[in-house]
Amino acid sequence: MADGQDTEIRAKFREMLEGSKDDWDIIAEHSRHFNKGLAARVINHLKLLDGDFGGFPVDRLTHSLQTATRAHRDGRDEEYVVCALLHDIGDTLGSYNHPDVAAAILKPFVSDANHWMVANHGMFQGYYFFHHLGLDRNMREQHRDNPYFEHCAQFCHLYDQSAFDPEYESEPLEFFVPMVERVFSRPKNSMYLRKAEE
Ligand SMILES: [Fe+2]
Ligand SMILES: [Fe+2]
Repeated sequence: MADGQDTEIRAKFREMLEGSKDDWDIIAEHSRHFNKGLAARVINHLKLLDGDFGGFPVDRLTHSLQTATRAHRDGRDEEYVVCALLHDIGDTLGSYNHPDVAAAILKPFVSDANHWMVANHGMFQGYYFFHHLGLDRNMREQHRDNPYFEHCAQFCHLYDQSAFDPEYESEPLEFFVPMVERVFSRPKNSMYLRKAEE
């Protein structure tokens, strides 16, 4: 791996107060290369869900592939399908707030509607099981007036709550990789983007 080798050109500052344009040109160049690997890093993280059942009828990677496959076969566009694929990627690090993790990863690359859908799918998914755990299945009603309420409710009803069938034949992860690469190559919302790059 190039990082860590002594031949690498690096910024010279000891604290950012000393930083120069040359330093930041070096760092920006490294970022451009590193950012190109984002889709591959995301896919690798998604693979951590493989074999992780958590008591469910299918493991979490199978559930993710099934959610994405159902959305794709229903004619949803690529950005939506990638959101479907990654909606539970936060299960490994966000045990108490997994939708926030997926929403944060997807935010620079997706519409406000799709971002809201991913960020809130946990509460909307609760409509299908919270009452079995002594929780309020209608918790989602606090968002009833939100313009994206139906968008999120539809995602959960059509693709998420329905994606636990061990008999369903999903597309393999490889099928979705080019979609993830395309979506993650086009950031549109980030404070690090200059106007010209948007
Ligand atoms: Fe989820
Ligand atoms: Fe899910």
